[in-house]
Amino acid sequence: MERLDKRIAATGRWSRKEAKALIKSGRVKVDGQQATSPEEKIPEDATLLVDGHLVSSERYTYLMLHKPQGVVSSTEDPREPTVLGLLPPHLRKLGLFPVGRLDKDAEGLLLLTNDGPLAHRLLSPGKHVDKRYYVEVTGELDETDRKALAEGIQLKDGTHCRPASLELLPETGQALVTIQEGKYHQVKRMLAARGKPVSYLKRLAMGPLALDPALPPGAWRPLQAEELAALEALWK
Ligand code: URA
Repeated sequence: MERLDKRIAATGRWSRKEAKALIKSGRVKVDGQQATSPEEKIPEDATLLVDGHLVSSERYTYLMLHKPQGVVSSTEDPREPTVLGLLPPHLRKLGLFPVGRLDKDAEGLLLLTNDGPLAHRLLSPGKHVDKRYYVEVTGELDETDRKALAEGIQLKDGTHCRPASLELLPETGQALVTIQEGKYHQVKRMLAARGKPVSYLKRLAMGPLALDPALPPGAWRPLQAEELAALEALWK
């Protein structure tokens, strides 16, 4: 059992204060009954309606974040600003964590959730979930780089990477890179092994989940039901 206002705020769509106001103004129904008290305790599987619209009955929270440069992909850090610090206080208390990491100087799509099993499945090396990046390098990427990545690059420390795709962007010398693994600094190390150091890195997609172009760096939004369904469908 959980407090009604807390559960509504956990969707990421309303703050705790807004959730209280929604309930007090009679806009929330719990299992068909109009709710009146924010403190009401509701069962985990209760059906919630706000203004007649179904609010996800998920017990977990899923947020899409456009990670900006300059913040670290961890939940806490003694010195550096973290991705969790970009969220309002009521969402910082839900045990959210980033699914995979982006380097401090990288930006782009980061999924934040407290759904451990989903995160585990997405990150598990055996699942081969595609991670797609836009990269800029010092120098120009070319056909020889594309072939080398397609064959599977050996990093400078001897580590072998699985075949990766490099899609050259016309006339810029820059590219889209798709990898299925998540080795430490993988894209940077793969391209460093080609003598083309990465100067800018942005994650565009993870499996079926694409960075929403309407989200500027630093902004976030709850995952839409279809986006979550697409992630879950990876294992069906
Ligand atoms: N590869 C990298 O080198 N850095 C990232 O942040 C992600 C993939």
